[in-house]
Amino acid sequence: MTMKAMQVGLLGIGTVGGGTWRVLQRNAEEITRRAGRPIRITRVADRDVERARALTAGAAEVTDDAFAVVRAPDIDIVVELIGGYTLARELVLAAIEAGKHVVTANKALLAVHGNEIFARAQERGVMVAFEAAVAGGIPIIKALREGLTANRIEWVAGIINGTTNYILTQMRERGVTFAQALTEAQQLGYAEADPTFDVEGIDAAHKATLMASIAFGVPIQFERAYVEGITRIEPRDVAYAEELGYRLKLLGIAKRREGGFELRVHPTLVPADHLLANVNGAMNAVLVKGDAVGQTMFYGKGAGAEPTASAVIADLVDVTRLHTADPEHRVPHLAFQPDQVREVAALPIEECRTASYLRLAVADRPGVLAEITRVLAAEEISIAAMIQKAPACGRAEIVMTTHEACEAAMNRAIAAIETLPAVQGAVTRLRIEPLAD
Ligand code: NDP
Ligand code: HSE
Repeated sequence: MTMKAMQVGLLGIGTVGGGTWRVLQRNAEEITRRAGRPIRITRVADRDVERARALTAGAAEVTDDAFAVVRAPDIDIVVELIGGYTLARELVLAAIEAGKHVVTANKALLAVHGNEIFARAQERGVMVAFEAAVAGGIPIIKALREGLTANRIEWVAGIINGTTNYILTQMRERGVTFAQALTEAQQLGYAEADPTFDVEGIDAAHKATLMASIAFGVPIQFERAYVEGITRIEPRDVAYAEELGYRLKLLGIAKRREGGFELRVHPTLVPADHLLANVNGAMNAVLVKGDAVGQTMFYGKGAGAEPTASAVIADLVDVTRLHTADPEHRVPHLAFQPDQVREVAALPIEECRTASYLRLAVADRPGVLAEITRVLAAEEISIAAMIQKAPACGRAEIVMTTHEACEAAMNRAIAAIETLPAVQGAVTRLRIEPLAD
């Protein structure tokens, strides 16, 4: 018996939308066998109607009016692949009001408006699926929400932005400039429409925020995330980090702590022999520590047309299978039953604890090191390793790593070190994650 096809309205047929169209056409038979019924994109909205018509070759109705697709009575699922916060929010809320399920890859939208969107979807009994919003093609949402459901998740740490990982890798391996590597990432379709979101860590923070909510059963709270990107990384810090046995990666981290949880994105030194240190190019990887399972790692393509389409279509299949199920018995949007989400807050960065890498220029004279170590000792910060670099013309560069300390104590120590007469200029500070337990 042939079941009636699920009819999909696609909003935005750009990089990910185009990939979704292609993969759904190419693998239609396999996907139907898995979903139990065909899934067809029958309506497409895009600003560039001519390009959309050329791509869909008469197999879907094309318009430039996204609201017309959302409201079309024959559409069962709306796939939002336009991006941005404002119009995308209106479209997704309109789809929910119209009783349609939604699939989106838009992490910015969910990190900022997710609490509102999921609450409305719950009230209307529709699903909002977002596997593609975190780590592209890696099924990390499903893993956290379903596969690891037995665990008390202790922490999640990941390389969750393909663009910045691509840039850091190309700078390290090919010696290209930051600007050149970013241009390449844009040409390859990895970067956001506004690449500031990538290079300043905002995109990774959107994703880390969503993972934190699913891991800990807390509301989405992007506004409390600490965010630092890779634009101030200097090539010599990459080199010194390697000399000390580390590799520099932009990590998104969510860590359970007494009375709250840490939610932060920043360039991070990870041990060079750790699996995460060897995740290169646009590849993503997420490490999850559960109390029962221990550490698990999920690796794959974090950006690009077809890897992301893979996750979008997985959601389409899930929604197709589940759309007739009682809403109360579906997997909850944020993994925990809505009335079990707890108002636990992300901690301010000053209360986070990490080990650090410090680089500072000093006058090359006796006693300077003692002055610096005295400041650190006063804040109970213990030094792990130290090297002195490039002594010349009475000036030297000191690079040191410390054991774990509270961020506030480290900030005080850095401020005090910068006032020492022998210290020249600002201290460069990067955080270290051993990712050991
Ligand atoms: P693109 O810019 O390639 O595609 C967006 C498409 O939507 C474009 O064709 C755009 O047209 C069209 N569009 C924009 N505004 C409207 C509108 N008002 N009405 C109709 N169509 C419109 O973006 P991506 O495909 O890269 O990204 C889409 C979403 O997926 C974003 O939320 C992004 O964050 C997310 N994502 C992207 C990944 C990637 O690797 N690229 C990976 C994971 C998630 P025009 O070109 O004329 O502006
Ligand atoms: N701009 C994002 C990245 C796309 O580079 O990872 C995938 O979310």
